[in-house]
Amino acid sequence: MALFKSKETTIEVDFDRLPRHVAIIMDGNGRWAKKRGLPRTAGHAVGAETFRTIATYGKDIGLDYLTVYAYSTENWKRPLEEVNAIMALLKKYLGEAIETMEKDHIKLNFFGDLTRLSPELQTLCAETQEISKRYEGYQVNVCLNYGGRDEIIRGMKAWQADCAAGRADPAELTEASFSQYLYSKDIPDPDLIIRPSGEIRTSNFLLWQSAYAEFYFTDVLWPDFSKDDLLAAIASYQKRSRRYGGV
Ligand code: IPE
Ligand code: IPE
Ligand code: MG
Repeated sequence: MALFKSKETTIEVDFDRLPRHVAIIMDGNGRWAKKRGLPRTAGHAVGAETFRTIATYGKDIGLDYLTVYAYSTENWKRPLEEVNAIMALLKKYLGEAIETMEKDHIKLNFFGDLTRLSPELQTLCAETQEISKRYEGYQVNVCLNYGGRDEIIRGMKAWQADCAAGRADPAELTEASFSQYLYSKDIPDPDLIIRPSGEIRTSNFLLWQSAYAEFYFTDVLWPDFSKDDLLAAIASYQKRSRRYGGV
């Protein structure tokens, strides 16, 4: 058991009982900027830095998987100017992330329909995934143009195509076999899902995979989310009793 002293509180985390897979809905960038009288895009830029800090910290403390919600299938509804700014930031940060990955040996993977992204972004994602194949261990999944319902529908269509081609049999479908049609195939379900920004909803994140996840909500806005906030979420998770329907 390790004790962490932060400014106001002591955070108690048992590093031998960490959640294997933590997922985060990186929300609150716009409100963070508004509070400071800055354009929303300034919040996205600081939020991208926070992602970098937390992604590296996840490796330092010994998580196996970190999955972050960066852009949803519904986020296209935003003003074109904001969408373009987010896409420009993604391009910049993915380019830099390749260097970080090579330095820190972090595997980066993507969940989502990447075909709606610009050709340059798609190339960057493909390059990143190619480099990731060289590394073992800690993996970060970035959800880009991701929607939980969209993921399930895509999975169903792919499964249906396999059935029509004789590669799958409807009589044999199980939860485990269907999971193989999702972006998260071969990755364990998230143990802990964190949502900053004060909203208490999933907003279409990991619908299938979150069936037995523990949720942690905090009012902290994503650009302000610190290493201590991650530890506080893990400490809360470690106090819970996971029963999976049992006793
Ligand atoms: C999360 O922050 C980033 C994306 C959804 C792309 P928001 O932009 O949703 O920030 P708020 O919720 O408006 O504060
Ligand atoms: C969820 O946040 C998506 C991401 C953080 C990428 P939103 O800001 O889009 O969610 P709502 O609109 O508040 O539900
Ligand atoms: Mg939001």
